[in-house]
Formats: sequence, structure tokens, C-alpha cells
Amino acid sequence: MRPQPCATHHTVMKSIQDTNFAGHKVLLRVDFNVPVDENKHITDDTRMRESLPTINKLLADGASLIIMAHFGRPKKGGFEPELTLEPVARHLEQLIGRPVAFTQQLLGSGEPEAMAASLKPGEAMLLENIRFYPEETKGGEELARQLAALGDCYVNDAFGAAHREHSSTAVIARFFPNDKYFGFLMENEVRNLEHLMQAPQRPFTAIIGGSKVSSKIGILENLIDKVDNIVIIGGMRYTFTKALGGHIGNSICEDDKMELALELMRRMDERGVRYYLPADSVVADRFDNDAATMVVPSGEVPDGWESMDCGPESCQMLREVIMQSKTILWNGPAGVFEMPAFAQGTRQIATYVAEACAAGCFAAVGGGDSVAAVKQMGLADKMSYVSTGGGAMLEYLEGKELPGIRAIKD
Ligand code: 3PG
Repeated sequence: MRPQPCATHHTVMKSIQDTNFAGHKVLLRVDFNVPVDENKHITDDTRMRESLPTINKLLADGASLIIMAHFGRPKKGGFEPELTLEPVARHLEQLIGRPVAFTQQLLGSGEPEAMAASLKPGEAMLLENIRFYPEETKGGEELARQLAALGDCYVNDAFGAAHREHSSTAVIARFFPNDKYFGFLMENEVRNLEHLMQAPQRPFTAIIGGSKVSSKIGILENLIDKVDNIVIIGGMRYTFTKALGGHIGNSICEDDKMELALELMRRMDERGVRYYLPADSVVADRFDNDAATMVVPSGEVPDGWESMDCGPESCQMLREVIMQSKTILWNGPAGVFEMPAFAQGTRQIATYVAEACAAGCFAAVGGGDSVAAVKQMGLADKMSYVSTGGGAMLEYLEGKELPGIRAIKD
């Protein structure tokens, strides 16, 4: 028996919303690649919580859930105790208030297969770390076939892994040509990103930070054709500053990217994109939270000092640009956010963006430290949208088609 498709089944977005999954065995791919501390305690379960609407809807319908997830990057080609999903299974039980069956045995042993076969409506199991199968990251079709045999439809809610063309994130969808869906998390991410890139209200401002230009080249190149303003913050801005003839002391710089920085600035000028580089910097005499600090113009960093954050004048500039914007994309920190003494710039941006959202701006936030900043400050729900995807969001913003999305839409 297949789920009964509703009238909207063949629209581009294949949502679970209008389908009743009662009595079905649903293969659900999630991204539960959550951070853990040295005692394997989950330190941030946002990704798990964000998939709860999907999980709860499917269970409430009376589906049996066979959940697939990865954890870390196993290298050994089999079970690795330190990368077991067992703690995640136990945490999921708490979140959904029902048991989650789990075995460390892998497919082929018969145990997960038997567990899946005996699931009753409303019951869930979590398969062991899907990357324990070396075929997973190669996009092996045989593994996808083995997984597909466990259920009768496929729901992908793993936006964070949508840039991977793996067996469980993309290839498996081939086995369910008429029974593959986006989960709510995935649908929400895709809707917001499409809105951002296809129908932004103007002015549209991108605030792009992080330590290296090299990791943000693709996104900067793609955004030049789409935004009105680009603010370049974080360590990567010193490559631009040095390329412009500034003195950056010991600040981080990719010398081999200076020519590219000049080229990007030329292209922004040509296209009429206004770009902003923070005028002042908080510099330190060593890379340490307790270092001596002072504020200097960003192109006049003394020898022996390095930039750690943007300064007060830059924060004021950021505030003005942010408050004038109707759409904002923020990816990457303004300074060495992990050191409290140098988190100020990033925290200020979070505050300003929240203020802009309250005034009607649409703001999307992605990337580890920017997301951490809005969460630490309790501002996540003040943003229009906070992405659960790191690399996935970045690749989407670089203009790439994500295999996990394409597999459902095709
Ligand atoms: C992530 O944490 O960004 C996703 O889970 C993808 O993980 P990966 O970079 O190991 O593929």
C-alpha cells in the first residue's frame, strides 16, 4: 500500500503536509550531526528539535519511522564506538516522549532489518550512523537499495546534508519516484532560501564574514549579481585591506587572494554594488582573550598587533546599513567570536539584525559562529530564518543545485 497523494502531490515542493502516512513505513533522513562534548553530551540539539515537526507529524499519522542519520566523518569503513548514534537515539526519545529502537548492528546482520519489519504504527527506530557504510559517501546504489527495502516511502528532512550526493541523502530517492517528499525542515529551508535569492525586497544587504576569503569566494561571486550592498567583515577583510595598500600588522591575510580581492571590488564597482569594509578594528598584541587591546583604523594595524574584531565606528556603519535594508543575509562572524573579549562586533550585528527584523526586514542567518551568536543572545526567534545548514547553505548561496533537493524535485 502506498500513501495516498493529495492534489498538491505533483507540485514542485513535495511536502508531507497533505499526505496521510497511516500504516506506512517511512524512511526518514535527518541531519542529527549535532555537536557533543568530551562526555558525548549533546551541546546543541537545534537540528534535532527542528526535525520534530516532521517526526511528530509522521508518528501522529500512524507511520512507522526508520530514521537515517550520520554522525561525524567515520574513516574506518565500519563501526566506530566513538561515532555511534546511540546517545542521539536516547536524546530523541526524550524529545518525542516515546521509545526509539536502536541497534549498533549494521544492515546485513539481520538485526536492523528485523527491527524495521516489526515496527508498529506510531513506532520509531534510528539506524546506526549511516556513514559506517563506506558506500554511503560514495553514493552507492546498492546501499540505497538495501535501505529502500526497509520502507515504502522516503522523506528527506536533512537540509544540513543536502549538498552531499550520498546513498541516504539523494540516491535512495530513485527507489521512490512517486513517494518521495521534503520534510518540514527541508521545505522551510528551501522556501526561505528561494525567497532570498529569487524575490528579495530591496535594498538587499549581504554581510559576509569569517577568517578566509578563500572559503567565501563562491558566495561573494554569486551575490554580486543579486545584492545591493556587501559588507565584508571578519578576518577575510584584511586580505582586502592589504590589497588596497593598508598596513595590517599580524592580522590574518591570504596573500595569494589579494588579486582576487581587487578583482571582486572591481566587479562590485562595475555592477553598482556598494561594498563596505569596517573602518576600525580592535587589535590585540597576541591571539589571546586576555591580550592587551586597542582600537585603530583597519589599514593602520601596528606591527606585532593583529586584528581580532571590528571597532565601534564599524559597528555604527553596520547598524546604518542594516537598518536601511529590507533583506539581509548574514554569514560569518565579525571577529574572533569564540573569545568573549572579541565577540562584541558579532554580537552587535545580531542585535542590529534583530532590530531590523522587528521593523519588517527579512533576515536569514547561516554559518556556525553567526548562528551561535544569535542563539547565545537569545535572538534566534527574532530572525526571519536561521539555517540549520552550514556547508549546505553556503553551497546553495554559491548558486549550486543541492543533490538532496534535486533528488526530491526531479
Ligand atoms: C554538517 O554538519 O554540516 C552536515 O551534517 C554535513 O556534514 P559533512 O560536512 O560531514 O558532510
